[in-house]
Amino acid sequence: MAELFSLTKEQSHTLYTAALLHDITKEKSPDEHITLCRVYQIEYTQTDIITPALFHAKTGARLARELFPLECNSEVSQIIETHTTGCVGMNLLQKLLFLADGTEKTRTHETLRELRDYFYKNPEENELYIHLDNTLIKYFDITISYLLKTNQVIDTQTLNARNDLIIKRGNHG
Ligand SMILES: [Fe+2]
Repeated sequence: MAELFSLTKEQSHTLYTAALLHDITKEKSPDEHITLCRVYQIEYTQTDIITPALFHAKTGARLARELFPLECNSEVSQIIETHTTGCVGMNLLQKLLFLADGTEKTRTHETLRELRDYFYKNPEENELYIHLDNTLIKYFDITISYLLKTNQVIDTQTLNARNDLIIKRGNHG
C-alpha cells in the first residue's frame, strides 16, 4: 500500500508503526477494556461494551501511546483509534490501515477476497484516491450488511464514516 500510494518515508514509518501496534489490546476482555477506560479516562459507549471487536481500537490507541511514547505519536494513536470503525474525515493513513485490516491475506471470507481483488486491480494512477474511497465504501457496505444479517449493533461512527465518503464522492445513487 505504501508503494501504491507513493507514501513518503515518514508516512510509511507512521503507517508501519500503527500496523504493528494496532491490535495491542485485542485479546483483552470487556472488563479489562472498561478498566483501561477508567484508568486513562477514555470515553466509551454501550456499543463498545457488547462489541469487543470495536472496543480494542479505543483502548489500544491509548495503551500503545502509554507503553511506546517514542514510537506512538498522536498521529499513530489516531490511526489505531479508527481502525475498526473508521470515522468522518479519515485521512489517507487512517484509510490505509482500516482497509489493510480488512483485505489482508488471512481474511478468507469470499466477500473480503473479492474486496481485496477489487482494490488491487491496479486503477489508473490519477484515479487512485477515488478508487481507494470506492473500495472503502464497498468495505463499509460489506461490514454493515454482515452486521444486519447477524443481528449485531452497528456503531454510529461506522455509519457516519460510510455516509461521509458517499457525500464526498458526490454520487448519491
Ligand atoms: Fe483490530
